[in-house]
Amino acid sequence: MANSSERGLFSSRLGFLMAATGSAVGLGNIWGFPTNAAQNGGAAFLLLYLLLAFALAWPALMAELLIGRHTRANMVDALRTLAPGPVSRAVASVTGFAGLATASLILAFYAIIAGWMLGHLLAPILEMLGQQSLANWFATDSLELNLLLCLVFSLANLGIIVAGVTDGIEKWSTWLMPALVLLLVVMIVYVLNQPGAMDGVRHFLVPDLERLARPGLAVSAMGQAFFALSLGVGTMLVYGSYISNDANIPRLSAGVALIDTGISILAGLLILPALFIAQAQGVMITAADGSLIAGPDLIFQVLPQLFESMGDGGLVLAALFFGLLTIAALTSAISMLESPVAYAIENTRLQRRGATWLVASLIFAASVVIIVHFDRLFGLVVSLTTEYSQPLLGMMLCIFAGWLWQRHHLLQEIRNGFPDVENHLFWKIWPGYVKFVCPVLIGGVFLYSLR
Ligand code: PHE
Repeated sequence: MANSSERGLFSSRLGFLMAATGSAVGLGNIWGFPTNAAQNGGAAFLLLYLLLAFALAWPALMAELLIGRHTRANMVDALRTLAPGPVSRAVASVTGFAGLATASLILAFYAIIAGWMLGHLLAPILEMLGQQSLANWFATDSLELNLLLCLVFSLANLGIIVAGVTDGIEKWSTWLMPALVLLLVVMIVYVLNQPGAMDGVRHFLVPDLERLARPGLAVSAMGQAFFALSLGVGTMLVYGSYISNDANIPRLSAGVALIDTGISILAGLLILPALFIAQAQGVMITAADGSLIAGPDLIFQVLPQLFESMGDGGLVLAALFFGLLTIAALTSAISMLESPVAYAIENTRLQRRGATWLVASLIFAASVVIIVHFDRLFGLVVSLTTEYSQPLLGMMLCIFAGWLWQRHHLLQEIRNGFPDVENHLFWKIWPGYVKFVCPVLIGGVFLYSLR
């Protein structure tokens, strides 16, 4: 294993906050959350999501960050370090490798979607430059285009991870995250002033409690909460391993959870009004069964039609919108890649550059397989990784933090950066909470979904 002085370290708390919120804020917030909310009872879904985000995902996030900082290792070695005996060490290995595999598979499909975002970013820019036919090529789905865009995105991702923790992850996140928030706010202000926008706000913020009773909703909200906070797959664990010992992890993780949910809510205030503005312009926004259009059709058909109807201003708006999504995807993708790369650096003779090329090439190969067998594989990989694997791995991490980590060692770790933690309510609640409540709740929701 590489010794810890060679490992990276975030240079400041702000740097960590930018990187971790960069990982958390992604397509899950800006695309997944608003459309899920719109289809599942608006504010009722929002409340359920907030509840799960703070009651389940936030404690689990803390567990991951603490395990990471304590062990200063990748997910596999970190869990092995906590395991006291041969059986638990075997469980640690299985869980750790499942985490790395899940992170890699999530990245494999994520890079494909991110490639589409990139294509839709380039198309309006090329159109503004008068390159109409090239612009059309970038906006029309084809196998070659999907491969090319996924490759370009994967190379950008690789470039950042090769540069390392401070010069890559931290530096880029510190630029990209404020840019993302700025773009989001500019677009919301513009969109909310268009005719029809308020219908979208209403749809998002007025609760429809009947929909909340739908079976399976809790599972999808839980999956959403785990995906949104990048949990279970070692990304937060490995970012935690780059945090300095004087940082207060409970407070930092609360910051991450708050910014993440805040951006989900802001994204709802952008996407749903945009959908209803499109309707006011005569675009169909409901599918044949009367439900709101969601998923890829929303982003790649409804919204582009809206932008088109807005003339030249629409081109600028389209470039901004897809620029926003590309940035969100990139800062998340780097964290997914870092998880297996950290393992490779710490367990092979490879240096960061070689490890990154190796891991990124394998993941790109998986993306190619998914692109070529898209209809058969894409939905399967998405649901396997995000609905099943991620919450289950999150549960395992809570079990490691709650059951295998001795209480006084845990306390010692939290005391770093939070010296009087014992006198806080936090210490009275959290350890028992990750030990009992989190695993039982996650397992319960999961079993319920299998009925
Ligand atoms: N949190 C990211 C999003 O919302 C996705 C993600 C999942 C990132 C797992 C890292 C690990 O899009």
